[in-house]
Amino acid sequence: MGLSVVILAAGQGTRMRSALPKVLHQLAGKSLLEHVICNANELGAEDIHVVYGHGGDAVPTTLAHCDVGWIKQHEQLGTGHAVAQAIPHVPDGRQVLILYGDVPLTSVETLKNLIELGQESGFGLLTISLKDSTGYGRIVRDESKKVVRIVEHKDATEAERQIKEVNTGILVVSQKKLSQWIEQLNNNNIQGEYYLTDIIAMAVADGIKINTASPENEYEVLGVNNKRQLAELERAYQLESANKLMDSGVGLRDPMRLDIRGNVNCGRDVSIDINVVFEGQVDIGDNVSIGSNCIIINSQIGSGVNILANTIIDNAVIGKNCHVGPFARIRPETELAELSRIGNFVEIKKAKIGVASKVNHLSYIGDSIVGKNVNIGAGTITCNYDGANKHLTEIGDGVFIGSDTQLVAPVKIGAGATIGAGSTITKEVAEGSLALSRAKQMSKSSWRRPLKNKD
Ligand code: UD1
Ligand code: CA
Repeated sequence: MGLSVVILAAGQGTRMRSALPKVLHQLAGKSLLEHVICNANELGAEDIHVVYGHGGDAVPTTLAHCDVGWIKQHEQLGTGHAVAQAIPHVPDGRQVLILYGDVPLTSVETLKNLIELGQESGFGLLTISLKDSTGYGRIVRDESKKVVRIVEHKDATEAERQIKEVNTGILVVSQKKLSQWIEQLNNNNIQGEYYLTDIIAMAVADGIKINTASPENEYEVLGVNNKRQLAELERAYQLESANKLMDSGVGLRDPMRLDIRGNVNCGRDVSIDINVVFEGQVDIGDNVSIGSNCIIINSQIGSGVNILANTIIDNAVIGKNCHVGPFARIRPETELAELSRIGNFVEIKKAKIGVASKVNHLSYIGDSIVGKNVNIGAGTITCNYDGANKHLTEIGDGVFIGSDTQLVAPVKIGAGATIGAGSTITKEVAEGSLALSRAKQMSKSSWRRPLKNKD
């Protein structure tokens, strides 16, 4: 049986106290709803339907890149009503998995397990026992422990409210049965809503056994209603990611102080100090060491690289055995060839730095191609922008650039050339030559410092 997933995401999320619809809030660099959609994709769903409503079209507009069907629920009349909006879009003969757009961290294993159980009996329901079950729908079982119905907190008797096992909302059932039951729902309850949960009693009446499964971790079924819960789930997610990295052999100085907002692949013997943030896709080779307070975004880090504290690397490729930082900023489209060294307070943008070249202190190298074995002295600036356009600086192999040099682009420095410190270079420098553009020093031995006026 093919799988269709229906994601309920029409709720308002008042308690987020935000103009942004709840399901668009980010967890680990991705919206809550995108986490759920990614899970549905990993399950191999044939089609995914998202029921949205509150926040107008912001949800489908923001997530237009997701391959899902968008179904608008104009009025939020309850979870049963929300599913009813999706039913006409679900092809016949499917298994239907219902997920919530504000429950982002259900693991794919948990869902696979549930789907299997659902296929066995015709109805799979994800439940969990909570110390405090206040607010949730309670799972009512008979003497033989068979599920007979769900009662919502507000409709429950005192005795039913003692039940610790609750409905997570996540369930799986055939499209055929689901549409039959949904048609029979009514809103005769305290909240005047169409409860999806009423289909459990209907299934039982039809002689179907409700198979239940539970997640391994409680956070897998927790929803986000406010900023505190969002932060709690972010921490749960981050700790889980950190644990996975450590299980794969990565050394983390403190798993509580690492943030992964995307995917990180690490080789062997990688060590990561505290307060490091990864964003997007980051690939790291073997024997890499990353100092504290680094931010690494969509980049490749070669084996043997040493990244020192407070370095930012964004959309760059760092070759093997490079040394970067501390306090370096490597901006997009930078490629460092192996063994190059970028030191403190150096900014590199859209530049290629050749093998074993060094830019060790306080420099800006932008829109440049730098050869191998080049030494760029402290305080060197490529003047790449004339106020309208960006221009290229080309520096040949083995060039030595003295400190505090300005290279006014477009400009070329031939291989093996030397630039004297303090120069402003505006013209091409020939291979092997010395270029110098500073004023001659003068000394006046008769000069006296001015004296302070007496008043
Ligand atoms: C629901 C369940 C409850 C369960 C709890 C788990 C019902 C009747 N109750 O309660 O048994 O313990 O979830 O968190 O199903 N939504 C829509 N359209 C609507 C109403 C809701 O899309 O008209 C969406 C919400 O955006 C949310 C989800 O459905 O993602 C659940 O809605 P919510 O109002 O939070 O359900 P609860 O009352 O908490
Ligand atoms: Ca409700």
